[in-house]
Amino acid sequence: MEIKDNRYEIQGIGLAALAKDYGTPLYVYDGEKILQQVKRLQDAFSTVNLKIKYATKALSNINILKLMKKAGTGVDAVSIEEVRLCLHAGFEPHEIMYTPNSVSFDEFQEAVELGVMINIDNIPMLEHFGTYYGNQVPICIRLNPHILAGGNAKISVGHIDSKFGISILQLKHVLKVVEAYNLNIIGLHVHTGSDILDAEVFLKGAEILFDAAREFKGLKFLDFGGGFKVAYKPGDIATDIQDVGIKVSKAFKAFCKEYGTDLEIWFEPGKFLVSEAGYLLVKVNVIKSTPASTFVGVDSGLNHLIRPMMYDAYHGVVNISKLEGPERVYTIVGYICETDTIAADRKLKEVQEGDIIAIKNAGAYGFSMSSNYNSRLRPAEVLLLHGKAYVIRERETFEDILKHQVDIGL
Ligand code: LLP
Repeated sequence: MEIKDNRYEIQGIGLAALAKDYGTPLYVYDGEKILQQVKRLQDAFSTVNLKIKYATKALSNINILKLMKKAGTGVDAVSIEEVRLCLHAGFEPHEIMYTPNSVSFDEFQEAVELGVMINIDNIPMLEHFGTYYGNQVPICIRLNPHILAGGNAKISVGHIDSKFGISILQLKHVLKVVEAYNLNIIGLHVHTGSDILDAEVFLKGAEILFDAAREFKGLKFLDFGGGFKVAYKPGDIATDIQDVGIKVSKAFKAFCKEYGTDLEIWFEPGKFLVSEAGYLLVKVNVIKSTPASTFVGVDSGLNHLIRPMMYDAYHGVVNISKLEGPERVYTIVGYICETDTIAADRKLKEVQEGDIIAIKNAGAYGFSMSSNYNSRLRPAEVLLLHGKAYVIRERETFEDILKHQVDIGL
């Protein structure tokens, strides 16, 4: 988003005009920015055999998936529905990694029938798999490296108390199961968490994975998960992807040499690819001054963007209706019957009713975590690509709220 010709625009398209044409609240995605991020990652790992498996859950509109496919990525899916969505969007089964947790064996069987790569994260399921398929279906194992890293407790998943992955301390047990059922393990996986800044954390994860990999023959890939940090606050430092690329590639190449195979290196970024490309445009319904604060009430809330409430996440906000004039401090709040503060105590150009506020970093885990709470409708989504705006999801209507409800005639 930049200021040009006295307005905020992306790819030469005015954001206020988008809000006017398509209504608010509105999710807007900058497709060119997504393509740039894919390219940055590809370039950072250009000396190794990189496969990007975009974390579908971050933003799962089929047009975004198709854009990823065009850019040359594969996908990571965490539910059978996401697997089906990725197939629908045109991914080949072999391009899809299926990384669920706490799912039934039936769901794994469904995934096997669909032909996607299975990533198993618990020992009982490995045993079921072995009993049923033996070595007939190649699989990946998700290990928990016991590294505490990530933006906050809710998105740190590689530590000892986490439900994810098989503890690295249980590796001996895993090896026994693999041997007993003659399992065909072709990949190992770790994902430590989200919002990880340091290359060192990825390197530490890599070393743990290399140690485990030495115990397996016939591996084809190692998957380091996602979790690259992007900038949310002004002055925030993002993961230096170049640095991670250089350091991890070097360690990876040395390991491949030792292992005797040119393995593929997989990453599953979500935020890195789509967070900064997304904006949620909302309209100011009311400005309410109290002895403590000046609240700006907008036509959205935690039903559309839950991150501020769920993770105390910071999202930048800009009054795109005003380019000039004084600034004041406001607290932007939603219209939901909860304390759904979107942004507290922020300086904005003086706000009036009807102004449009752009909420930044809304590409990842924005729409995909939205709901109909308070029986509110979910917003439309617009993709900007090659200087054109495309509606990629229509705004819900009241009929959608009633759609699956069954009136039993009381
Ligand atoms: N791979 C696996 C196995 C994951 O569980 C995740 C995220 C990713 C990749 C992608 O992580 P990313 O690159 O997007 O950080 N809703 C939270 C983030 C939860 C992420 C869950 N797993 C948020 O909005 O911060």
